[in-house]
Amino acid sequence: MRAMQSEYMHWAKFKAPARFALTGSEVPHFRMDSLPVTIADLDLDGASHPRYAPLREAIAKRYGVAPDQVVAADGTSMANFLAMAALISPGDDVLIERPAYDPILGAASFLGARIRRFDRRAEDRFALDPDLIESAMSERTRLIVITNLHNPSSALAGEDELRALGAVARRANARILVDEVYLDSAVPPRRSAIHLGPEFVCTNSLTKVYGLSGLRCGWILAEPDLAERMWRVNDLFGVNQAHPAERLAGIAFDHLDTVIGNTPAMLERNRALFNAFAQSRSDLECIPAGHGITAFPRWAGGDTGRLDALLRDRYDAAVVPGRWFEMPDHFRIGFGCATDFLEQGLERLGAALDTLA
Ligand SMILES: Cc1ncc(COP(=O)(O)O)c(C=O)c1O
Repeated sequence: MRAMQSEYMHWAKFKAPARFALTGSEVPHFRMDSLPVTIADLDLDGASHPRYAPLREAIAKRYGVAPDQVVAADGTSMANFLAMAALISPGDDVLIERPAYDPILGAASFLGARIRRFDRRAEDRFALDPDLIESAMSERTRLIVITNLHNPSSALAGEDELRALGAVARRANARILVDEVYLDSAVPPRRSAIHLGPEFVCTNSLTKVYGLSGLRCGWILAEPDLAERMWRVNDLFGVNQAHPAERLAGIAFDHLDTVIGNTPAMLERNRALFNAFAQSRSDLECIPAGHGITAFPRWAGGDTGRLDALLRDRYDAAVVPGRWFEMPDHFRIGFGCATDFLEQGLERLGAALDTLA
């Protein structure tokens, strides 16, 4: 049965709200009114038809690639979907990391792929293991899908592992889709895998690290022929992006330093707070957070659905139970929020853990 939905995404959207929800994986919303924008900048003059060039060029410039390697998409979500739609045919094997971001599994299934998995093991710090991936490949594997940084653990795959993975894919005539939506929260920031060879197809957006999820400004970087195929697939979906959003995204790209602002410093503070908290608890196992916006600790108490339920019932707080990442005794915690808010959330988490001890 092919997937027709993502249960996780539905849960993420409609779960009961909690004041100290540490469930998010993005930084606070950036306010566009802090940039020089007037309504005239958003003129609906038809310039998005076809393929709004200024935004495509801004993205190409940022990555040092040619504009014909850039495809615009509604967020990383649609970018992943278009990339997979152009890369796989029904019946192809697609090899996807575990734990994985559920909509990636859903999109591959929806497109008729046979889904195969490889593990990123907690005991290996969720590292990417190119040998393990190679051993999981079949003759029918056309695509390998990873996230870098890894959602949920924020593990960083370095260029050595990525190059080794590129060689594995090349030998098998397969491609690698790298969802890089968290990559700009690596410390220090790393370049995109698009520079590592034609096997790589990379997706990203202004959502997680820039606080601009509402713009739905996403993109795919790929070889020009492939990029063209993705643009054509999008003609079956939204055809063009919403033009005011494209214009706003262009303005955001012109001021990306302002948009990111103090976010790296805030994330560094928050990671340190979280690391101190995790270290102080004998019931949690977690690699110290060095990158990213989320961490994925293991709880000695078993299924973390219980922990989330207590947090919601008694502490007006929440985490993401690990069952959504196929590892029920872990939970995902997000620290993209204001630091004082994180402090209060961690206090509540500590109290809930003590109650369940
Ligand atoms: C790995 C991954 N990719 C994509 C997305 C969605 O990003 P966007 O809002 O740009 O569609 C998320 C959001 O949680 C994510 O974790």
